[in-house]
Amino acid sequence: MSTESRPNDRRLALFPLPFQGHINPMLQLANILHAKGFKITIIHTVFNSPNQSNYPQFTFKSISDGLSESKNINFNLDTTNPVVNFMNRSCIEPFKDCLLRLLKEEPIACLITDALWHFTQSVADSLNLPRIVLRTSSMSCILVYAAIPILNENGYLKTTIQEDPIPDLAPITNKDILKVFNDEFKEGKLELISSMIKNTKAASGIIWNTFKELEESAFSVISQDFCVPNFPIGPFHKYFPAYSSSLLEQDRSFMSWLDQQPDRSVVYVSFGSIAQMDEVGFTDMAWGLANSKQRFLWVVRPGSVSGSEWLESLPEGFIEEVGERGCIVKWAPQQEVLAHRAVGVFWTHNGWNSTLESICEGVPMICSPYSYDQPINARYVTDVWRVGVMLDNGMETARVIKRVIEDKEGGEMRERSKSLQEKVNLSLGKGGSANQSLENLVDYILTL
Ligand code: UDX
Repeated sequence: MSTESRPNDRRLALFPLPFQGHINPMLQLANILHAKGFKITIIHTVFNSPNQSNYPQFTFKSISDGLSESKNINFNLDTTNPVVNFMNRSCIEPFKDCLLRLLKEEPIACLITDALWHFTQSVADSLNLPRIVLRTSSMSCILVYAAIPILNENGYLKTTIQEDPIPDLAPITNKDILKVFNDEFKEGKLELISSMIKNTKAASGIIWNTFKELEESAFSVISQDFCVPNFPIGPFHKYFPAYSSSLLEQDRSFMSWLDQQPDRSVVYVSFGSIAQMDEVGFTDMAWGLANSKQRFLWVVRPGSVSGSEWLESLPEGFIEEVGERGCIVKWAPQQEVLAHRAVGVFWTHNGWNSTLESICEGVPMICSPYSYDQPINARYVTDVWRVGVMLDNGMETARVIKRVIEDKEGGEMRERSKSLQEKVNLSLGKGGSANQSLENLVDYILTL
């Protein structure tokens, strides 16, 4: 992809939200802008601080986040929103102090902060610094989030599950919205989303890890509703080969096993860096994989099964049943796995990074979304781009896996997925929309 540098010595300060699904795109963006000639400072929290040794070209500044002092916050899926809300308060002063110190050394052309760091807009305003938002999820997602207050007023967050699309938000259903709000921290989530939207609209611009051709209709609505310059320049990970911003160590020992498997025969299973499941869900997944009789590579993150360190909850007889057919690892080099010719389908929770990574490799998906933006991403995968199937509660997992790996339906999904993959490549190539957006972004920052 074209990332030609232009002479320019302006410094940018980037501030990622400290979770894997947000650190990855922010550090990829840092690489893209560095290749365009900008100097990069990464401001980061102590919590989940990125591995600096992988980025000698950047300057890193650490700020206190208040988490280590607060003994009551035990991080997991259910407490992500309270943690983010907490840090949006606890980081205000440390972030401001850090910027003041940086500004004494040299000017900052602009701040680029995650949309969920909503407090950074008022800090930027108080220091007269322009702030550009990085939104790490899809454009379609933010439109659904923007409609949440109305949906709440109209009772959509309370009603029983309905499968029909919500008027004006099709193909999103009330069932999807209820999954977005599937936990007891609903109020905290509403507060977070509305502050995120308000302060995104107040920013000097929005960078999106998506591309126009994928989300044409959302793009035109956003261009009208969010009256700030929009730069859909993604997918970021395509500009540079998988650069390591991984917080967990990647296991590569299974690669020789993967190399021995036939083309498009392996089910790759991973539910990202946050999702947690209970023991029953884990056992069901295990038997679903075993009964499908297909080959699989399964990422089980330590701690992702409640009450287990790692694999203690695997059902008895499972290992003997699957034998050489299956491989379980703690964390994988996911982009490399998805690009492998042996991978036939991705069973995913549809975090936005995973969804984009799958699209970029033309791999169809089995969608099991948990929360956040995932139900929205999954609905687009199954109903709009038609490159995956939803695996809902009560469905027979083994049957769904076979549908995608073996049936004609799976082949058609793969065809559509390949054509999306071609669109990605055209968009990122010279004269393509993402490529042009990146040029526009660089020009825009230089005018700030
Ligand atoms: C979170 C939210 O859950 C997600 O919905 C939101 O869009 C971003 O923030 P996460 O759940 O971790 O992210 O999912 P995802 O967005 O898919 O990001 C996971 C990242 O970890 C991907 O870039 C993926 O390549 C990487 N990964 C995952 C690995 O490198 N190895 C693995 O074994 C699994």
